[in-house]
Amino acid sequence: MTAARVHADRVGWRVGAVPILAEVALTAAPGTTVGLLGPNGSGKSSLLRLLAGLTRPDSGEVLLDDVVLGTLRPRALARRIAMVAQQAATDVDMSALEVVLLGRIPFRPRLAGVSAPDVELARNALAEAGLAGFERRRWSSLSGGERQRVDLARALVQEPDLLLLDEPTNHLDIKHQLELLHFLASSPTTVVVTLHDLDLAAQYCDRLVLLHSGRVVAAGSPAEVLTPDRIAQVYEVRADVDTTPDGRLRISYGRPGDEATAGRWEKAVS
Ligand SMILES: Nc1ncnc2c1ncn2[C@@H]1O[C@H](COP(=O)(O)OP(=O)(O)OP(=O)(O)O)[C@@H](O)[C@H]1O
Ligand SMILES: [Mg+2]
Repeated sequence: MTAARVHADRVGWRVGAVPILAEVALTAAPGTTVGLLGPNGSGKSSLLRLLAGLTRPDSGEVLLDDVVLGTLRPRALARRIAMVAQQAATDVDMSALEVVLLGRIPFRPRLAGVSAPDVELARNALAEAGLAGFERRRWSSLSGGERQRVDLARALVQEPDLLLLDEPTNHLDIKHQLELLHFLASSPTTVVVTLHDLDLAAQYCDRLVLLHSGRVVAAGSPAEVLTPDRIAQVYEVRADVDTTPDGRLRISYGRPGDEATAGRWEKAVS
């Protein structure tokens, strides 16, 4: 896999008259892992779709290695960008192996069938996702976390330069969450991943971009972005942010009505 640079240059996107994203700037340097954070409805999935070239911005543009996404053909895009969507389709009547093989379609000569090397790639990807032996299992029979890992394997056999993942950990148990984030952080591919777990984002992402109401409110290192005041403003939650002896951020949340941190929270949101 090689790695692309992706850059959203002040992109805006609206639905009818309603602005969903405004003046959003985001850069992921080649090989880095960028975490996209923000509350429900802040625009993370919408931004990922713009980065994937699945929707076009109404203003600004998205550049992949300095080429405007809109000028690339769908097949060229599919060879370079893989996306794991927030909700995997539920009405698919395919085996796990067939789902993974979808990721090889952009590389196949038109009208050509599935090749033996593609099957080998797909089997290996399933095994890497911890799903060896699941090749023939029907998609509809898989658990939520198994589907999520099959979908990841489908994205990985695309051997993308840019991997976009929308809440890829939401169905995973803690072991598989940690394995996935470790894999993304150490992958040579450029990764943009949306996450709700701020601790995991801080631990595994090189940079974070925090969205609020369709705008970027902070971008930078995890320590720069995840301050107690900003967590209070954006998530409306009291938080303490500590640094552990080994240099990790650790976030502890105050419970609603908790007096200990109420003063700071009220100051931050007022
Ligand atoms: N096609 C659409 N038509 C109307 N509104 C839309 C459309 N797509 C997104 N929105 C709205 O845009 C806002 C941002 O949605 P988006 O899915 O990008 O949020 P998100 O940050 O991914 O949220 P979540 O954490 O819940 O996944 C939401 O208020 C959503 O309802
Ligand atoms: Mg979303």
